[in-house]
Parts: sequence; structure tokens; C-alpha cells
Amino acid sequence: MDNSTVPMQMRLSYAGTTGMTVSWNTFSKLQAPTVQYGTSQDALILQAQSSDSITYPTSLTYNNHVKITGLQPDTRYYYRILPGGPISSFRTARVPGDGTAFVAAAVVDLGLIGPDGLSETSKNALAPGETSTVDSLIGQVPNFDLLLHPGDVAYADYWLDESIAGYLRNYDFSATKGAALYEKLNNEFYDEMVPITSSKPYMIGPGNHDANCDDGVAYWHNGQWVGGSGLCLAGQTNFTGLINHFRMPSKESGGTGNMWYSFDHGMAHFISLDSETDLGNGLGGPDEGQPLNSGPFGAYQNAQVDWLAADLAAVDRTKTPWIIVMLHRGWYVDYPGGCTACQQAFEPLFNTYGVDLVLTGHNHFYQRNAPTKNGQPDTNELNNPSSPWYIVNGIAGHYGGKAGYTLNPPYSRFVQNQHYGWSRLTFHNCTHLTHDFVVSNDDSVSDTATLYKNRTCSFSDGSPHPSTPSPTCDEWDSNVFATDAGRSYVIECELDRVGNDLNMVWISSNKIEDCLAACDSTPGCVGTSMSGTACYMKKKLGVAKHASYVRGARLIS
Ligand SMILES: [Fe+2]
Repeated sequence: MDNSTVPMQMRLSYAGTTGMTVSWNTFSKLQAPTVQYGTSQDALILQAQSSDSITYPTSLTYNNHVKITGLQPDTRYYYRILPGGPISSFRTARVPGDGTAFVAAAVVDLGLIGPDGLSETSKNALAPGETSTVDSLIGQVPNFDLLLHPGDVAYADYWLDESIAGYLRNYDFSATKGAALYEKLNNEFYDEMVPITSSKPYMIGPGNHDANCDDGVAYWHNGQWVGGSGLCLAGQTNFTGLINHFRMPSKESGGTGNMWYSFDHGMAHFISLDSETDLGNGLGGPDEGQPLNSGPFGAYQNAQVDWLAADLAAVDRTKTPWIIVMLHRGWYVDYPGGCTACQQAFEPLFNTYGVDLVLTGHNHFYQRNAPTKNGQPDTNELNNPSSPWYIVNGIAGHYGGKAGYTLNPPYSRFVQNQHYGWSRLTFHNCTHLTHDFVVSNDDSVSDTATLYKNRTCSFSDGSPHPSTPSPTCDEWDSNVFATDAGRSYVIECELDRVGNDLNMVWISSNKIEDCLAACDSTPGCVGTSMSGTACYMKKKLGVAKHASYVRGARLIS
């Protein structure tokens, strides 16, 4: 097979509760990135395609993205990337109002593990035989639904610092060789993550090291200064790699690219923010200006904060009681230089709308705070506070990791920089959320705390129940409709299952349910395709093809 199209770096991201974006890299451009999928690994009878196969200057690969839509929520699908991909599977998000308990993993400031990154010989080295954070997460994949990663993802921008420090051999400070090394580190990291990201949605946000421009000081080497903005390589500035590599659900949430967006999973509403640029109201983002010179990404100056306010205002707390915000930099941190501009931009909105938890990294230690508002710890602590809870966990493992803490602020409740680790969020129900710091080396929990919120919820049994009794497109797309005959169909808007026709009848009412009633009374009918008022009944479900004028349905029970 042609190696240039073999899929690498497979990764997933939620695209609403009825969609999933499958992304991967290839050495050559794909004309039509294609994913086959289905609810049985023996019958990948559906297919999704795109034309999204892109690269950027200095990249060694193409980033391919296919969004699969029209899926059922909370359902396992099997998929295969063409050509040559292995069969893997994912589970779609639960609908808002589904109160089933679940676990989310979160990691910040991670970076490459192994000979070219954190290793037994690097700075802040792993002890001989110590399990890394990536390996810990891989081992725990069956036990979480999704992985959050708000920034400082691959740390490939440290190619220069790590070279100079002697951790990477055979380096060359020329732009060409530097760019190749940068891309090699990126590719190694994303391949390393595949055992996680090919089966669990990997929801990322921007961090300073994803601005992709080495921001270290300049170094005197072979008679010249190197480093700093002088080696800010073309194609690696302004979050270029991150922007090309991922497709976060901003379209579904009204956000902006991978920079800010939101999504729901069951009883939680997750918001990912950009602490690096676009803080609005004239505030300077940390990565704006020299040397990183990043952003802006918003359509206008206050685009991010206006979006955040609208997004928060729209949350139905009876269905998604938990609002979790992730962003790279925090301000309630036990070290000088917390992001006060981020605080000015975001904290008033967090307070106004009662955000439950704010998860940040950037500072390379773990710090659990009390719920805090305007610098004051909440007197209720975790027992029904009115202030958002802040947790800093930037000690996933980049080799530069493990930073000191110095300030002992009044809101800090637990801080450590001894162990690399990640965060585990367990959403128990409407009122209880547990945060654990998981020590990567042995999966032990070195800190655990449970937040209690006194509130009532309106949870369903997990099944979607659209408001109208008569299924229509697009309101019912991917939802289950039960007919009077007691059979259940998934409505498939704009999908045509060509062929395998049993019969055709005209539906003068033009209603989907009347077509389904005809199917119910036709022996052997397992699905329908409506084209106008023509109702085609199917003896077998063929491959679904996109057709904007077709209202389809398939029998599930
Ligand atoms: Fe950072």
C-alpha cells in the first residue's frame, strides 16, 4: 500500500451530541478524506467524506478532518479511516439532561514523553521505570469518557531549548532543520496519544507553547545569538499547528475555531476558553505582542467575552447543572505572575453565571483552591459554595515541568510539585462532583475533594425526547421515534439508503410518521426513505448517501 496515505495520529472530537469529528494525518494530501462507520464492526455501512486535507509551511504531513453527523447520542460506533486504517470505535456524547454518572480526564502542560521529551535522562527526569502521564492515561482509557487538554499540548516548540540543553542530539539551528525537528516532535507526540485519542474525544484548547514559536531567551552559540523570536519559524507562529491539527466544535457552539467553544456531555456543559489572546475590552492577552505576536482570532475585539456571556446565559442548569470551564492560564495561583488580565476578562462572568469549576494549568504544579470569588475563599468551602472552584494542574509532565510555589495564598487548600499527574473529574449526579489528582506513576490518588451543590435537576432517562410529537427534519434528526405499532426508528435527515426497495406508497399528509406507519404494516420493512411524498420502504438498510431532499428512517427495535 502507498505509505503516504497511511493514517497516523488518529484523534476524535465531539461535534454536538449527534456528531463526531475524526481527524488524522497523512504524508500526502487526500482528495477526499473518508471514514466508514456503523454500529457494528462487521457492518461499517455508512460513509462520511470531506475535502478538508490541509497543511502549512514546514509541516511534514497533511491534517485530515471528517465530521460525521446524524449519529445517535450515547451510542457506540465503529469506524475505519480509508485507506488502511484499523477499525476503532467511539461513543457519542450523552444528551443534555441525561443524568448518568461519568468521568472526564483532564491534562495540561503535557508534551512529548520518551527519548525526545520527558524521559529518564531529561531535566526533571522520570525515575527509572516510572510510569509517565501518557502511559497512565492509556491504562485508564476504559475508565473515562473524554480527555480535556487546555493548552501546552505537544511542546514541540521547545525543540531549540531542548537541543541546547543537550536532550536532543544532532540538532541544527538552521530554520530548515529546526522546522523539521519541530514537526518530528509534534508527530511523535500525536502518535503517542493515539491509544487514547482514537477512541476518546480529545478536547483541546490553546496554550502559550501552542503558539508554536520558541519563546525562550536567545542563546550564544558558535559565535552568534540564536533563539527567541529570531528562530520563530515560518508556519509555526500564531497557533498554526494547533489550528490545522484539530477541529473543535466551534461551529456547533458559535465559538471560534479551536480557540473558544463549548459542548455538552450529559449533565455537564464544558467551555474551553483562550487565555492567550482575545481577552477583550482592550486587555492584552499574554501571547499578543512580541515575541509571540499571536491573535487576534475574534471577529471583533470583544468577540470571545461576548460569546462567553451568551453561552453561559443559554445554559439550562436543570439539564446541564455542571458548568466546567477550562483555559490554559489561571489567576488564583501560588506563584507570581498569575494572569490578571484573564481574571479581568472572565471572572465577572464566571461569578455572575455560577460556573462550578475552573480548570487551568500553565503553572507546573498542582494546586487545589477553595471556591473563590474576587480573591476571597468562599466561607462554605466545598459545601454548596456560591463561588467557582479553581484547580490548577500543570504538572502532567513536560521535561521543563515541576515548578516551585511560593505565595501560599489564602484560598489555596492543597499544593504539590512532587508527582506528575492528571485530573479525574467524576460527575456523580446533579449535586456531587469529585476531583482527584491521579499520580501518573501508580494511578494512586494523592488528593481528592468533592464539591456539593444544593440544587435540583430535571434529568431524563437518557433518551432524547424532542418537543413535538410528530417527527420533522431537522428537529428530529438522529432521534428515536416510537410509532403507534410500538416499533422504534431513528430519523435520518438528508440520508438516502438507495436500493433494496420493498414497495413505494404516496403519503398525502407528507408526514414522516405516516410513512413509518406504512413500513410497520409492510412485512420485512426495516427502514424508509421519503422523497417528497414518495415513501420508499426498504427490505435492507443499504449504504446511506447524503441527499438534501430525503427524509430517512431506520428501524432499531
Ligand atoms: Fe503554559
